Amino acid sequence: MSNDQLTEFVAAVPMPALVVDQTERIIAANTHAKTLLGAGIEGRHFATILRQPQVIEAMEQSLRTKGPAKTRHLANDGAQDTTFEVQCRYMNGVGAVSGGAVLAIFQDVTHLEQAGQMRRDFVANVSHELRTPLTALMGFIETLRGPARDDAVARERFLKIMTEEANRMNRLVGDLLSLNRVESEERVRPKEQLELTGMMQSILNSVRPLAEDAGVELTLSADQGPVTLTGDSDQLRQVFTNLIENGIKYGGSGGVVEVRITSSDRDTAMRGPAVRVQVIDKGPGIDATHLPRLTERFYRADSHRSRELGGTGLGLAIVKHIVNRHRGRLRVESDLGKGSVFTVILPR
Ligand SMILES: Nc1ncnc2c1ncn2[C@@H]1O[C@H](COP(=O)(O)OP(=O)(O)OP(=O)(O)O)[C@@H](O)[C@H]1O
Ligand SMILES: [Mg+2]
Repeated sequence: MSNDQLTEFVAAVPMPALVVDQTERIIAANTHAKTLLGAGIEGRHFATILRQPQVIEAMEQSLRTKGPAKTRHLANDGAQDTTFEVQCRYMNGVGAVSGGAVLAIFQDVTHLEQAGQMRRDFVANVSHELRTPLTALMGFIETLRGPARDDAVARERFLKIMTEEANRMNRLVGDLLSLNRVESEERVRPKEQLELTGMMQSILNSVRPLAEDAGVELTLSADQGPVTLTGDSDQLRQVFTNLIENGIKYGGSGGVVEVRITSSDRDTAMRGPAVRVQVIDKGPGIDATHLPRLTERFYRADSHRSRELGGTGLGLAIVKHIVNRHRGRLRVESDLGKGSVFTVILPR
């Protein structure tokens, strides 16, 4: 193979690729490789370009054994850390004095790494969330079998806490299952016809006891009568219940939680007929640093308070998936000290 042919061949590889011959110089590199490793790498000794020890080692091994080698190359594309799987393959009869050369191909496996990391984080989070109530339960069981065995008053008190902890675990498992279901049917379009204003009244009735306990007034304002749309009524109930409950739990100090429904034939965000449901509170608000991460699983802006109130931190993650399934948008605006506005925009 002539050098020109080799250059053409490497250029046709749809990912970073380069060739190093027995003189240990890079004799061909495609544009992807130059983007990754720098321009002007051709003709240079490979070890001055591929500075990572494991990559140099794989290259040396492939040159020496005239066989394959595999390793990882770590980089950063300016926005994030990236990981490449490097495959070295020996080609006989190529390169200077036809002594053979190594073709190295860099495959971007960043997304696989990230998916793996997310899975590990998720498992770690779930275990941690379950372990906390479980540890409490185990502690109380010990106490009830030992020191508090004959203490009827303590027993009642402990059983009450144990019930709360068991409820927390139950809620967590319920939320996890719900998240799983919502995620798996995210691409299935909902088909039900439903009426939003009536649904909202019914949701408000069911959360009213919670609001009364917290001393919060709930109000509903709708600029028009019934609003019909296609959706999944159980899921939308879940969305608005969580937003209103959050308003009561975290924004209740403001004394009111308002639900506002406005519908428009040409919504600016949806470029078509849509309805906006806003859940507005006058509580402490959420710091801007938390806003972009609120819909992540287990993310809590004020983790101590959230846990104390029995929150699992999964509510808004579920909300986001349900809104996505309805091809809608979720917006969060908040002013520290003034309150928060959660807006769900749904196409009609
Ligand atoms: N209206 C609000 N005002 C202030 N903080 C809020 C408000 N709504 C949500 N947050 C913050 O966002 C976090 C995430 O809310 P999310 O609904 O996902 O979880 P949660 O309410 O803690 O748990 P769950 O909804 O599963 O019971 C909350 O823990 C809280 O810190
Ligand atoms: Mg919540």
